[in-house]
Amino acid sequence: MIVTTGQLFKHAYGKYAVGAYNINNAEQAMGLFKGCISSQAPFIIQISKGARKYTDKRMLEAIIRSAGEIFPEAIFAVHLDHGDEQTCFECIDSGFFSSVMIDASHESFDQNVAITKRVVDKAHAKGISVEAELGMLGGVEEDIKVDEGHAMLTNPDEAKDFVAKTGCDSLACAIGTSHGAFKFKGRQSLHFDVLQKIKALLPSFPLVMHGSSSVPQDEVARINAAGGKIAGSMGVDPNEYLPAAKLGVTKVNIDTDGRLVWTRVHREYFRDNPGDFDFRPAGKIFIEEYAKFIASRNVLLGSANQLADLRKSLGK
Ligand code: G3H
Ligand code: 13P
Ligand code: ZN
Repeated sequence: MIVTTGQLFKHAYGKYAVGAYNINNAEQAMGLFKGCISSQAPFIIQISKGARKYTDKRMLEAIIRSAGEIFPEAIFAVHLDHGDEQTCFECIDSGFFSSVMIDASHESFDQNVAITKRVVDKAHAKGISVEAELGMLGGVEEDIKVDEGHAMLTNPDEAKDFVAKTGCDSLACAIGTSHGAFKFKGRQSLHFDVLQKIKALLPSFPLVMHGSSSVPQDEVARINAAGGKIAGSMGVDPNEYLPAAKLGVTKVNIDTDGRLVWTRVHREYFRDNPGDFDFRPAGKIFIEEYAKFIASRNVLLGSANQLADLRKSLGK
């Protein structure tokens, strides 16, 4: 059952965070649904502009619709990740997305407000939730690269003003994370001080954490042992997901970690089976491994075993 992120956040707020996982193909979709059903967790499927272009956006929609039929128990939102204004409008009009993210965080505050407000007005007219972003994460977001020197933590006073002026339903805040596999130079903690200040000014308002992959070092070591060259990678401590959730983070974005699972499975499989050229055996292993990974993240997010209670609260 497809619901809005707003409906998911109402149930999660202050208790747990909902995992938001990016998907690009059928294998990822299968692993994601399996992992969320085995852990009995609600979830958010994120589709980036790049994912929409990868095969064809209609293909991805069909895969998700089919997965929803194969796993009728699943409760999830379909969300556009890092949308521009035009793509948000397309997704709002598609009749398929229940949530969009407008990312105008690279614009001035006033421009960000103006663009976000236009998207909010269109989305709310159709009952669709809107996530916006204030502050700037380091790393690569689609075609925008932000170097560490230009990354900015979210200003809590501006966050309050921004939410009041735009009417957005959730806000992606920069609290020290960045996209990709190279987040920190050494082990670093989330900026809980900034999160606390935002929560004090915006009580009960759902916050979103981008760049939340944990970049498991055992996964990276296996990739490197099978021919990969991923040096110096570092991710978020996944034991910080739940403390962040208690401070209002209701959505935790994880993409890179799934790519690492894919890379490890395929590198190891073809190293160990050099004569093989059927992609299905490796694909099947990936689905199972990704499902296990997703279930493990849902436990850390606190979203595992929330499905029955959520269904009751939705009156379904
Ligand atoms: O924030 C970016 C997400 O990880 C999506 O990545 O644009 O390469 O699909 P992508
Ligand atoms: P990671 O690169 O840490 O997985 O972040 C993904 C993300 O924020 C998608 O919007
Ligand atoms: Zn992101």
